Amino acid sequence: MHEDIDSILFSEEDIANRIGQLGRAINADLAPYAESGERIVAICLLKGAAVYMTDIMRQLDLPIEMDFMCVSSYGNGTVSSGNVVIKKDIDVDIEGAHVLIVEDIIDSGYTLSCLRKKLEERNPASLDITALIRKQVDGQLDVGCKYVGFDCPNEFIVGYGLDYAQQYRNLPYIGVLKECVYE
Ligand code: IMP
Ligand code: MG
Repeated sequence: MHEDIDSILFSEEDIANRIGQLGRAINADLAPYAESGERIVAICLLKGAAVYMTDIMRQLDLPIEMDFMCVSSYGNGTVSSGNVVIKKDIDVDIEGAHVLIVEDIIDSGYTLSCLRKKLEERNPASLDITALIRKQVDGQLDVGCKYVGFDCPNEFIVGYGLDYAQQYRNLPYIGVLKECVYE
């Protein structure tokens, strides 16, 4: 275990098993669209969801486009700003397409609730969300996340794409960051 990690919440094996289950559920729900030739677009929210995106995509056994979006929500710290700006938009048109937003973690819920509104204005046929982690936070906005990997306590976690000051994304597990690292 990395020296800056207090404890491991979800091991590499836990994550792989859960992603297998989520993949089966998503496949089953999207299969009818694929069968009728409708477009399906997965949108990864950079940078945190990049690792989850690559793993969940390889569980999906149907024609699906991948695109990437970058929205700002966090600066260098651990408190959500609630102010979401699109820093990099997707390249594809999602009008009439079935969209799956792929996110790493829901904290306050501001990022996804703002983004859902922005993307719905583009008239997709449907819009669903998958987030690998949902934090247990008082007052969290209900973003209507259809596929949640794990619920986790309200602690600052890193690994498997999640960062603190751009570090720890490469850890293969998800763990609680030692408080002394950011105090
Ligand atoms: P929200 O808008 O408060 O839901 O924040 C969502 C974003 O905050 C996520 O996409 C993450 O980038 C970041 N975030 C929230 N909690 C954590 C955490 O515990 N570790 C790392 N990043 C986090
Ligand atoms: Mg993020």
